[in-house]
Amino acid sequence: MKATVIAPTNIAIIKYWGKNPTFENIHVPNKSSLSFTVQKLTTTTTVEAERGEFEIEFTLNGKKITAEMKEAKYVFKFLNNIKKFYPFLNNYKIKVVSENNFPTAAGYASSASGFAAFARALVEAVPEFEDIRNDDKKVSILARLGSGSATRSVPSKGGLVLWKRGVDPETSYLYDEKEASERSYAYTLIEPEKLQDLSIIYTKVNEGAKKIKSRAGMKSTVQTNPVYWNWIRYEEAHLLKETIDALQNNEREKLLNNIMKASNGLHSMCLYTQPSITYLNDTSKLIMHSIEEYNNDEVKAAYTFDAGPNAVIFTYKEYEKEVKDLLLNILEDEQKILSTSVGEGPRKTDNHLF
Ligand code: DP6
Repeated sequence: MKATVIAPTNIAIIKYWGKNPTFENIHVPNKSSLSFTVQKLTTTTTVEAERGEFEIEFTLNGKKITAEMKEAKYVFKFLNNIKKFYPFLNNYKIKVVSENNFPTAAGYASSASGFAAFARALVEAVPEFEDIRNDDKKVSILARLGSGSATRSVPSKGGLVLWKRGVDPETSYLYDEKEASERSYAYTLIEPEKLQDLSIIYTKVNEGAKKIKSRAGMKSTVQTNPVYWNWIRYEEAHLLKETIDALQNNEREKLLNNIMKASNGLHSMCLYTQPSITYLNDTSKLIMHSIEEYNNDEVKAAYTFDAGPNAVIFTYKEYEKEVKDLLLNILEDEQKILSTSVGEGPRKTDNHLF
């Protein structure tokens, strides 16, 4: 059987950073996170499954992934995780071709849309997955087994998505691995139609020093940052709820301020890691400060940064032009600025990649 799925990436406004040490292998997070589904940045993945001894062949953006390449580690881990819960996968030869549709200007490689598309196409291609095919919750759990942030790219409705941590790290001992896994999934809180006044602007900021992958970075933070658990408790108990309320009540200023606060929280946790992790560079900081200056009289935009120097800016459609001009002043190249909207979740297509 062959199936192709197009899945969007997502941008977190309340960040995921750190796995529950008891369930690290299956990417159960220490706290819940919140993201917008991003309309224009997608991955298309075709999966073909044939009965036979387990085997995987994987091509990413036209490049065959061989066992010694770093991408292979992620893919093998994903499939081994799935086999623990769905052993029938051992009876399949799997061929996967995956392509990111990110305009090069955006400069965003993302495991989120990649593993979401992979998980969705896999459940379509393997007959034994029939029962969970239309179950967003179960498929989001499956995508989580590949990469945490991919969980949030699975819900079909897209929009504003909440990924529940499912397990309070203080009471992890209550659950076995299967139970913990089933508790941590994503779902849509607000549909994209209701979020069309928002504009999401991706920027491409040049990379400086070699970056630490988020998987290794968050592990180091959990292990060495002395205030990490305070941050987790604060965000889980306060910032998450306040941000959801702000969105539901259309409190723009509160929303934008919380987005910046959450991003700064993540990056201060990185700085307090030993050895410290710095993802932001001078251009990132210039963007931060110019957004803060722009907000002087009225808060009209917010920045957020993931594990890299590229800023993602949130604003409202009526200010989009002003904000883009401000970014152009700093980046001096229109190709480095891409604006998009909140979008829907993954969809199937008959346009197979092979
Ligand atoms: C900073 O999902 O890439 O983007 O689960 O180890 O694959 P793994 O990590 P990943 O981490 C994303 C971290 C982040 C914040 C976020 O998207 O919430």
